[in-house]
Amino acid sequence: MSSDKKKTDWGLRFYLDVLKLESLHLGLWDKEDSFTVEGMQAAQRRYTEELLKMIPSKVKTVLDAGCGTGTTSVKLLEEKYEVEVLNPDPYQKDLALNNLPKDIVYHQEKFEEYSGENKFDLILMSESSQYMDTSLMAEKAYQSLNKEGYLLVADYLRKSDTEFYKTCKIKSEFLNTLKEKGFKLEKTKDITEATIPTLSLGKKLFNDFADPILKIIVDYMEEDQPRIKKAISFLASKKLAKVNYYLYEKMPDKLNEDKFRENMEYLFLLFKKS
Ligand SMILES: C[S@@+](CC[C@H](N)C(=O)[O-])C[C@H]1O[C@@H](n2cnc3c(N)ncnc32)[C@H](O)[C@@H]1O
Repeated sequence: MSSDKKKTDWGLRFYLDVLKLESLHLGLWDKEDSFTVEGMQAAQRRYTEELLKMIPSKVKTVLDAGCGTGTTSVKLLEEKYEVEVLNPDPYQKDLALNNLPKDIVYHQEKFEEYSGENKFDLILMSESSQYMDTSLMAEKAYQSLNKEGYLLVADYLRKSDTEFYKTCKIKSEFLNTLKEKGFKLEKTKDITEATIPTLSLGKKLFNDFADPILKIIVDYMEEDQPRIKKAISFLASKKLAKVNYYLYEKMPDKLNEDKFRENMEYLFLLFKKS
């Protein structure tokens, strides 16, 4: 068991616990969706429907790698695929098991370390490939797929080596690595524009709620609990500086729609093992 296997992703937990989202991807918006969390939920359901349309007809078995809350797998099971799920995050495991049937095969590990014996017709990575080392991921996918199996990736990638969304993969490097590891790109669908309203909604929710609430907490502590504030500041000044940077610089930057359009592409990519 690797040491970081049990870590919770707190950013993703915010989307689940505070925004009450059912899934953890950016969704696919339509003009008719209301600009609310309910609209976002409709966009997420549409995203899943469109993603599943990318699956070739002969596919029967699927590994949902990075399954999040399991909502995509619920849909896959409804469509009669045989499904196993995988996710290293312990908090999301409980949520997923709540949504999925009791007898689902759940692998709590990183995909790069997948230790199951089964091989699959298709491995799905819905916004999870960005968390993996591409080379290790591609090797593991190749080993874990049946002959002529498919890898279906849905993710946002950087157009070039920019600072913006620095942790995301650079598209050309990602495609080259998969090619080197024996995958042929069969189909691409660009959904960038249909994901943009999620950034706009994120910005609105942040400005309307998160920012004023945080300011109230800080002001309250300053007025009523100066000693606690002082102690916390002393103990955690570096952490607080990080939180401040994240909330007031990084977050608004990440939610900038024009920058996203300029620097990123959100793609559905269907690869075939050659
Ligand atoms: C943005 S969420 C997407 C969740 C889900 N696929 C969806 O579309 O709603 C990213 C998911 O990848 C998972 N993840 C992170 N690192 C991973 C890894 N090394 N292997 C597999 N999954 C990973 C996270 O725990 C999380 O469930």
